[in-house]
Amino acid sequence: MTELVLARFITLEGGEGAGKSTQLRRLADLIRARGHEVVETREPGGSKGAEAIRALLLQGDEDRWNSGAEALLFAAARADHVVKTIKPALGRGAWVLCDRFLDSSLAYQGGAGGLGVEKVRALHDVGSGGFLPDRTLLLHLGPQEAAQRAMQRDGDSADRIGARDASYHQAVASAFADLASGEPERFRTIDASGSAEEVTPRLLAALEDLL
Ligand SMILES: Nc1ncnc2c1ncn2[C@@H]1O[C@H](COP(=O)(O)OP(=O)(O)OP(=O)(O)O)[C@@H](O)[C@H]1O
Ligand SMILES: [Mg+2]
Repeated sequence: MTELVLARFITLEGGEGAGKSTQLRRLADLIRARGHEVVETREPGGSKGAEAIRALLLQGDEDRWNSGAEALLFAAARADHVVKTIKPALGRGAWVLCDRFLDSSLAYQGGAGGLGVEKVRALHDVGSGGFLPDRTLLLHLGPQEAAQRAMQRDGDSADRIGARDASYHQAVASAFADLASGEPERFRTIDASGSAEEVTPRLLAALEDLL
């Protein structure tokens, strides 16, 4: 079989427990079955330097970094991830599926953290030349169902950011919704309720025109 060469950069976004990591693995398998090379990666992290920064971001006390410092660390990690992992994979024709990317920084540090999305975009311009996904799938889940899933998975061991209160996570959700309506050509909002088996075909359908 001749391998298809058609690089695509796809990101999965949404709040804690929406199912991004679960769905990313399932989607990767389906896209591979169509004959594409698929690279699965995540943020913060996805390259050696960025994984080192991940530990700084997710461990330690809740007030370890202010929102500005946090945004700078995310932008630095992303810059390394883009150059070392994402662009090389796209360069050889692979699909890259990334669990969180710029939009998480825009929603968390920019929106909920109060820094403002424009400043976070400016950091992305500095770090990564404003590089954007071909498509972003926003997994939408009501706050109760999301909290239930995250609790089932993590118990009381949520990370620095996951452990923030309900109003913070509500602000994240509303920031994501604003981002999606601001860039309808890049975003697809997907209903993430129901079983994992029910959600995957919704995501695949939102990529069908690119496959
Ligand atoms: N559609 C689904 N129905 C029920 N449970 C699900 C579904 N998708 C994922 N889960 C479960 O919910 C939990 C959270 O899912 P997952 O880790 O994929 O979310 P996430 O969006 O990656 O979260 P985070 O932002 O915290 O990384 C996991 O225990 C997972 O097995
Ligand atoms: Mg996850």
